[in-house]
Amino acid sequence: MKTQALLQTKIKVGIIGFGRMGKFYWEAMRKSGQWDIAYICDTDPDTCLLARQMSPESRIVSDNQVIFEDDSVQVVGLFSLADARIEQIEKAICYGKHIIAEKPVADTLEHEWRAVELAEHTDRFSTVNLYLRNSWYHNQIKEYIRQGEIGELAILRICHMTPGLAPGEGHEAEGPAFHDCGMHYVDLARWHAESEYKTWHSQGMRMWSYKDPWWLQCHGTFENGIAFDITQGFVYGQLSKVQTHNSYVDIIGTKGIVRMTHDFKTAVVDLHGVSQTLRIEKPFGGKNIDTLCRLFAQSIESGKRAPQLPTVRDSAIASKYAWMFLDDSYTHDLPAIGDLATLDEIRERRRTMKNGYGLLHHNNQKPHIIHP
Ligand SMILES: NC(=O)c1ccc[n+]([C@@H]2O[C@H](COP(=O)([O-])OP(=O)(O)OC[C@H]3O[C@@H](n4cnc5c(N)ncnc54)[C@H](O)[C@@H]3O)[C@@H](O)[C@H]2O)c1
Repeated sequence: MKTQALLQTKIKVGIIGFGRMGKFYWEAMRKSGQWDIAYICDTDPDTCLLARQMSPESRIVSDNQVIFEDDSVQVVGLFSLADARIEQIEKAICYGKHIIAEKPVADTLEHEWRAVELAEHTDRFSTVNLYLRNSWYHNQIKEYIRQGEIGELAILRICHMTPGLAPGEGHEAEGPAFHDCGMHYVDLARWHAESEYKTWHSQGMRMWSYKDPWWLQCHGTFENGIAFDITQGFVYGQLSKVQTHNSYVDIIGTKGIVRMTHDFKTAVVDLHGVSQTLRIEKPFGGKNIDTLCRLFAQSIESGKRAPQLPTVRDSAIASKYAWMFLDDSYTHDLPAIGDLATLDEIRERRRTMKNGYGLLHHNNQKPHIIHP
């Protein structure tokens, strides 16, 4: 009876940062019926106005202090940019809140390891949105490998290239494309390998002669001998008339292979193992925020942290290696191709695009799934 009553109580949350991601969480939490979105905090007045219209049941604030000081708030969602996160994490721990954070957990490695330290010395739960770990397709692949269908896992090949966020458009606190987005794939390779990175070599391209590489390929090995290559770039046909992308994983074992690809709507997994050959097509699932929120809600309700939830440490490790792989590219030949005038053209096109890859949200937009 007591458990039943507990399950029926909504979890009180304060959302901090109501941009593109914040709205995704708001939408997923509302849909689930498990959450009471008591507060929304954003420093931008127009965003606050929009939040008031979208979420009349929430208290809209521009200073997060009131959320931390409200003892009835159990969880804070830290969805603004990385530069504000460490201060918010410190406050959350200090005021005894559970934490759902966006990646990267902070703007510098020093702050990220401070966040790990804090998260690991409290009884409060925390997680970071390393969203690929919550995808149905990677869980399906992992389970298939666990069953021994491809023999011993030997080679992980991951590629994600889109005409996404261009340099200078925003999110500078999150680093160049290989850090901002690439850290997801650095994390994913580590998650599949179940080992730590051992060796690496990176080749970058300073596309449009921008100061940092916006395309990078890194290959190397893990401690357990698995080899990897990761290719990531937001450089994939930015000015093509009809834009497209190329995103896949290709995993090779001693006996079989698995691979997946997606078009952001449908994900397709091909499983070629020793006893089973399967092709599974299901909806892509976007950022899997519904799964993350469900697992987090379950953790709070049961008092036991769901083991599948990514940790702050996982995020700090992925961030660390994404930076190291980027840094490595500066130590080899790092060519520059194209000119900044083309980059200006790209930024201009993206400013006026209605539906494109990784467009930053404008305040007059209601949430809808757009490409990462
Ligand atoms: N996990 C993923 O797959 C994924 C994908 C995209 C973005 N992200 C991360 O999510 C975070 C948010 O990204 P976004 O695309 O929503 O950005 P965004 O620019 O759309 O939104 C950020 C919002 O935070 C607000 N803000 C800024 N500083 C604030 C502060 N101190 N307090 C309260 N509000 C503040 C801004 O006004 C804005 O509304 C970033 O760290 C980004 O790297 C993660």
